[in-house]
Amino acid sequence: MILVTGATGFIASHTIVELQNAGYDIVGVDNLCNSDIETLKNIEKITGKKIEFCNVDIRDGNKLKEFLSKYKIDCCIHFAGLKAVGESVSKPVEYYDNNIGGTISLLKVLREIGCKNLIFSSSATVYGTPAFMPITEDCPKGICTNPYGWTKHMIEQILIDVQNANKDMNIVILRYFNPIGAHPSGMIGEKPNGIPNNLMPYITQVACGKREKLFVYGDDYDTPDGTGVRDYIHVVDLARGHVCAMRAIDKNCGLDIFNLGTGHGYSVLDVIKTFEHENNIKIPYEIVARRPGDIAMCYADPAKAKSVLGWVAQYSLQDMCRDSWNYQKNML
Ligand code: NAD
Ligand code: WQD
Repeated sequence: MILVTGATGFIASHTIVELQNAGYDIVGVDNLCNSDIETLKNIEKITGKKIEFCNVDIRDGNKLKEFLSKYKIDCCIHFAGLKAVGESVSKPVEYYDNNIGGTISLLKVLREIGCKNLIFSSSATVYGTPAFMPITEDCPKGICTNPYGWTKHMIEQILIDVQNANKDMNIVILRYFNPIGAHPSGMIGEKPNGIPNNLMPYITQVACGKREKLFVYGDDYDTPDGTGVRDYIHVVDLARGHVCAMRAIDKNCGLDIFNLGTGHGYSVLDVIKTFEHENNIKIPYEIVARRPGDIAMCYADPAKAKSVLGWVAQYSLQDMCRDSWNYQKNML
């Protein structure tokens, strides 16, 4: 069985669908601090399969261990964590406690129950201002601009040290680029709390009239049209990357790291234009000052994931814009 932490969250819910479709049985845990229990029913509607679930904070090692003792866990995919960059600046203690404390607690429980395989949700944020582009996994990790980024940076180091001390463990670190989109069914997707920080959820809220216009953070970057360039990846592609990461685990990979991105960079204006064209909706926007901490460009070299995992992203930016809007409409 596969243990999924943060099971009802955005990326985990899509990953569970792909894992169940590939024949894996799932045990999920989440404390529901940023997600909804309804998600479980929606996953079950999509796949027709049940998920064993417990509402538990992964920092509560005793409760977690008690729940897991009923199952034989072959591998854990660890998504649980807080992820709001701005909030992490104002609440660093909460972010270090939840993300690092949660991971340490989980690692102790995994050791106690004899689970030796782990896949971790890291982020391209660990590259800081990337030393080169496109970014390969060999690109040096950089200076993070916020506590959230540092938690990913530090957890990666913790996992490297743990695997180094336990050579029989297999740990795969996946560095996600910019996940957007939603399951084509429109039944699961991203549900941000309050004002969205990220581009696509903001655009979909402008599209449905919840927000008046989009603020584009700077048009004076050294990029083709002056706006920030990112590697947007459809969440279903990202989810499938986790199924492929199981292949590395099956081959006893030890410690390995993969970028999960498409290899294509799109600017903020590219995303707006594609969204407008694909969905036939106008997105009013205003260019404002740069957002502190933003970098000009960030896109992956995904060649290693292709050659080692056999994984390549399939969905286009058009697909991502269509599915993001489809999910938002379904929530209205
Ligand atoms: P999400 O907030 O939708 O999912 C995270 C889930 O973890 C939520 O359901 C939340 O309730 C749960 N959770 C948080 N703390 C917990 C705890 N202590 N115990 C139990 N459950 C807890 O976020 P997401 O976008 O699906 O991200 C999943 C993972 O991927 C996170 O680790 C995130 O940092 C990482 N990541 C996300 C992005 C992105 O842009 N979405 C990019 C790179 C990496
Ligand atoms: C994308 C582009 C903005 C909102 C963040 C985290 C990163 C990772 C993914 C977890 C940038 C511009 C945005 C808006 C805008 N998360 N933008 N107006 O900053 O690349 O990455 O999410 O690991 O750690 O930092 O994503 O979607 O916020 O921004 O103009 O209202 O859109 O300036 O160029 P980002 P994003």
